[in-house]
Amino acid sequence: MKKNFETIFGLAAQVSASAPGRVNLMGEHTDYNQGFVLPTILPLKTTISIAIDPSVEGKIDLFSVNYQERINRYLESQKSKHWSEYLVACLQQLKQRQIVIPGLKVLVESDIPIGAGVASSAALEVALLKAVARLLELNLSDLEIARLAQKAESEGVGMPCGIMDQMVVSLGRNNQALFLDTKNLSFEYVDLPINYHFAVIHSGRTHTLTKSAYKQRRQECETAAKLLKVASLREVSLSDLNFLELPDTLRKRVLHVVTENQRVLDTVAALKENRFADLGQLMNASHLSQKNQFEVTIKETDLLWQKALNSGALGARQTGGGFGGAIVALVPSHVLKSWWHSLARDLPQATPISLNWSADTARKIAIS
Ligand code: GLA
Repeated sequence: MKKNFETIFGLAAQVSASAPGRVNLMGEHTDYNQGFVLPTILPLKTTISIAIDPSVEGKIDLFSVNYQERINRYLESQKSKHWSEYLVACLQQLKQRQIVIPGLKVLVESDIPIGAGVASSAALEVALLKAVARLLELNLSDLEIARLAQKAESEGVGMPCGIMDQMVVSLGRNNQALFLDTKNLSFEYVDLPINYHFAVIHSGRTHTLTKSAYKQRRQECETAAKLLKVASLREVSLSDLNFLELPDTLRKRVLHVVTENQRVLDTVAALKENRFADLGQLMNASHLSQKNQFEVTIKETDLLWQKALNSGALGARQTGGGFGGAIVALVPSHVLKSWWHSLARDLPQATPISLNWSADTARKIAIS
C-alpha cells in the first residue's frame, strides 16, 4: 500500500488507518427506533492511507485500488452518487466543526464486499475519520468518530441510517459482540462462543440501501410512533394494546421492532449462559419477523436461510439493512466444513464472507 501510494501520488503516505466490516447478530432495524443491537466485527477491512498536499488547498485527490479509479473532489463540490461522496461527507462534518481541512491525497483499499449488508460504507467513513484524526492530531474518541460518520452518511450521503454500523466499526473488538443501547449509546462487550461459528454467507444479490425501501421503513416506524404518541418505538411493549389499533402495515412494523428488541436481550442472555439451541431459535424467529412483519427479506436470502438450516445450522437470519445481501448462520465449529460443503453444493451462488478460512480454501471445500 505504501509503495502504491508513492507510485500514484508521487509523495509518501503520512498516516494509515483501517476499519472492519461488521455482521449484526441480532437487532435489525431497531437502531433508528432507539432500540438494542448486537453486532460484531468481521476479519475484513478497509484501509485508508493519507497525506497532506500543501500545494492544493481544499482539493481532495482520491484513488480507489478496488475500482482502479482516481477522482478529484472539493469540499464545496455538488453532491454526487459517487463512492467518494462518503469520504467528502465525512470531511464536511469535520469542517462544520471548524476544523481546517488541507489539500489531501487519499488512497482507499478494501476487502469488504459492497452491498452485502456488512457495513462497507461505515468502514469507509470510520477509516477515513481515524486517518484524518491522526494526521491532523484531532482529539476525537472512537465514539465521536462513530457519531460523525453516522451524521456524514445521513446528512451528506442521504442514507438515513441508525448508528449501529458506525459504532461497532469504530469500537468493535475481535471475538466479542457489542451489545449497544442506541437510546443512550451505552454498551457492553459480550464474549462470543469458541466452539460455534457465526458463518456469514452472501446470497449473491447485492443491495443499494439508498435506493431501497429502507427510508420508507424508517418513516413507517416514525409514523407509528406518532400515532401511538411515543417518542420512539422503544417505548412500546407487546402488552401495549394501542398498537393493535394501528393500520395493518404499521402494526406489523411495530410487532417486528418490539419483538426484535426483546430478541436482542434474549440473545445476550443465551450467549452468556451458553444456550446455543435457544440462540439458534432466536435467530430463526428474527429472520421470520424480518420476512413477514418488516418485509425486508428477498427470495434469495429466504432460500439461503432455508438451505443453511437444511444443511445443519442451529439457526440463521438475514443480517444488515436487507433487500438483498447476506445471512449469518450459527454452526458448531466441528461441522462447519461439512455444513459449508452441503450448502455450496445446493446453492452454488452462495459465497462465503466469513467462514474461518480463506476464500480459496472455502472454494476448494465447496467443490471437494
Ligand atoms: C443498515 C443501517 C443500520 C441499521 C441496519 C438495519 O445497516 O446502516 O443503521 O439500521 O441497516 O438493522
